[in-house]
Amino acid sequence: MLIKGALVVDPAQALEAPMDLLLADGKIALLSPPGTIPGEGRRVVEARGLVLTPGLIDMHVHLREPGEEYKETIETGTRAAAQGGFTAVAAMPNTSPVNDTASVSRYIREQAAAAGLARVYPVAAISMGSRGESLSEFGDQKEAGAVAVSDDGKPVMSSMLMRRALEYARTFDLPVISHSEDLQLRGQGVMHEGLVSLTLGLKGIPAAAEEIMVFRDLALAGLTGARLHIAHVSTAGAVELIRRAKAAGFKVSAETAPHYFSLTDAAVGGYDTNAKVNPPLRTEADLAAIKEGLRDGALDAIASDHAPHSTLEKDLEFEAAAFGLIGLETSLGLSLKLVHEGVLSLSQLIAKMSLNAARILGLPGGTLAVGAPADLTLIDLDREWTVDAGKFASKSRNCPFHGWTLKGRAVMTLVGGKIVSSEQSAVSRKGRG
Ligand code: DOR
Ligand code: ZN
Repeated sequence: MLIKGALVVDPAQALEAPMDLLLADGKIALLSPPGTIPGEGRRVVEARGLVLTPGLIDMHVHLREPGEEYKETIETGTRAAAQGGFTAVAAMPNTSPVNDTASVSRYIREQAAAAGLARVYPVAAISMGSRGESLSEFGDQKEAGAVAVSDDGKPVMSSMLMRRALEYARTFDLPVISHSEDLQLRGQGVMHEGLVSLTLGLKGIPAAAEEIMVFRDLALAGLTGARLHIAHVSTAGAVELIRRAKAAGFKVSAETAPHYFSLTDAAVGGYDTNAKVNPPLRTEADLAAIKEGLRDGALDAIASDHAPHSTLEKDLEFEAAAFGLIGLETSLGLSLKLVHEGVLSLSQLIAKMSLNAARILGLPGGTLAVGAPADLTLIDLDREWTVDAGKFASKSRNCPFHGWTLKGRAVMTLVGGKIVSSEQSAVSRKGRG
């Protein structure tokens, strides 16, 4: 296959230029100036006017399989990924059973291979059952394909267990992903603690509940020399702690999610349970600090924290509803706003949505270098579209962005050279022009 005339954006090669890309045997065979690769005898995709990037990688999703297939399956979740422009996702372990043994990781990979829509990299549980009592077998899990360890959904409350997890993970060169939350301080909180929670009469979760644990885990990363990754950063204070730890040379990386730079706690105003997420939506000042952290590099990656829930868990009074929102199909559109606003260059954004995740998790991909897997995303930057959660490939509908107009979307996604999602009409329309 030959993809012709797209603006190729590949941060790994500091490349942002119109190029033709030749694919062969599931890999990138040749990258060359426009018009220099003959199209005869090849399938040609005319991509003038589109942006071609390394396949986007979402390093934080919940696919719910095994155990909660009524919310999402590996097939529906990876279809949502492909639709959203993602060629690879890291699957969090809070399934049922929890991914605390190698057989669960193997099962996840088999299901993903059978669906054939996106690469799925399991994240293994830190502790058995994510109960925070005893460590799982990291070595077995690494052999089974796990790329990181985390008890995501829950913090590791014991500092001693977290220390041991970091030491153990270090021997396998696995990053430890911290869901940073002090459960006692969170208490019965259901949204950010501030003016809005006071007005609504809902119990609050203070920013400090996140920051205390970010600080603890940074301290433990310093103690152990292990690789630490902070998940779903939502507060200004957490951004600043990570910034300082990086300046001090700690092996730390961090991600935020599109909802933390797109929404504030005001979104909870109508008791909309789709805006109930953990960590909670914060304030305008936090939102600004998240953007600044993305801009100056304190935050390495954007991950959706795609967390599907059915109406059974969401059509409830706010206190009783589950935490989480779906993000795979809106992540790129929301994140492109950072480019349209001038917060990030396009190349910086693509690094945060692909290359940096690949580097943190040690994945193939994240680049369009010759020899890399042909995992690609074609993006129409100008395309305005309206979010219609009813049309999502995801099984769940818990999306607070329903009805929003976004600018820019993936129009074709390829994994290993195979088209897994495509809006053929959009490609040819732009391609002709
Ligand atoms: O909002 C959230 N939903 N935060 C988490 O940490 C877990 C996730 C889930 O699994 O639903
Ligand atoms: Zn989490």
